[in-house]
Amino acid sequence: MTDIQKKIIKLKEDKNAIVLAHYYQTMDIQEVADFVGDSFELAKIAQNTEKPIIVLCGVRFMAESAKILNPEKTVLLPASNAGCLMADMITPSDVIKLKKEHPKAAVMCYVNSTAETKTYCDICCTSSSAVKIAKSLKEEEIIFIPDRNLGSYVAEQVPEKKFYFYRGFCPIHNIVSADEVVEARQKYVDAPVVVHPECNKAVRDAADFIGSTSAIIKYVENSDKKEFIIGTEIGVVERINQLIPGKKAYLLSNHLSCINMKKTKITDVLNALENLEEVIELDKDTMDKARITLERMVSVN
Ligand code: 13P
Ligand code: SF4
Repeated sequence: MTDIQKKIIKLKEDKNAIVLAHYYQTMDIQEVADFVGDSFELAKIAQNTEKPIIVLCGVRFMAESAKILNPEKTVLLPASNAGCLMADMITPSDVIKLKKEHPKAAVMCYVNSTAETKTYCDICCTSSSAVKIAKSLKEEEIIFIPDRNLGSYVAEQVPEKKFYFYRGFCPIHNIVSADEVVEARQKYVDAPVVVHPECNKAVRDAADFIGSTSAIIKYVENSDKKEFIIGTEIGVVERINQLIPGKKAYLLSNHLSCINMKKTKITDVLNALENLEEVIELDKDTMDKARITLERMVSVN
């Protein structure tokens, strides 16, 4: 453990803070976190923690979700410029337009969206909860925003409903190609291909398993196989290789590193705890409306 990591652990105690990290964070940050998870798990922990200070090592929409679910707590985002490229692809006016075009449809919003976008939606979802949530809705038509890839994946699993999509996508997952799957399979012949649903359809169709970040890790843990080709962010590959004995993970594509997730450095986590910054602030009206969509999501699971 480095001196900076030791300081962070002491400061967590002194300030009565909890550190939450997404699986896409670097391993030095994962090591000092009280909990490491996918975006759904982080939202649930943030909702239930007793600690007055939550340090969210991830991207802005995750810290915003923690704040919305816990408005009386101090939520800190260590790297204030860590946004999500997909979340920034859609604006409230895009949602309003879709609602006018499909007035009978429920609006399902991937949590990878701004707090403001969420206020125009009926329910949120994460990649791990999306299929269950789509099935749980009474409406037969669903507007799915902003990720067209996760949306089309959900639509394939819920054929009884009619879906309308927005054009958003994750540039990191979307750029992976089916050719890269073929190349990886030639290199690692006995390794199953495991991908995140933010990958495009051609890649999903070529994969052996599709799942959220946590589902991918569970798949690796429970599989009899020893080697895996992983089609999601490199942080997941590093975690598998360091923490799951006897298993070896290979990254499906060199593109799979999220520039925003990697903006948080261990020194930013220390700074967040020392100086209590950046504090997430949202106006009450936005939080009250967005909370309905997040609480509905958490209650379905
Ligand atoms: P998870 O919901 O699997 O944590 O994914 C979040 C994300 O940003 C994927 O790119
Ligand atoms: Fe957003 Fe993609 Fe990064 Fe996930 S990997 S945080 S969807 S830009």
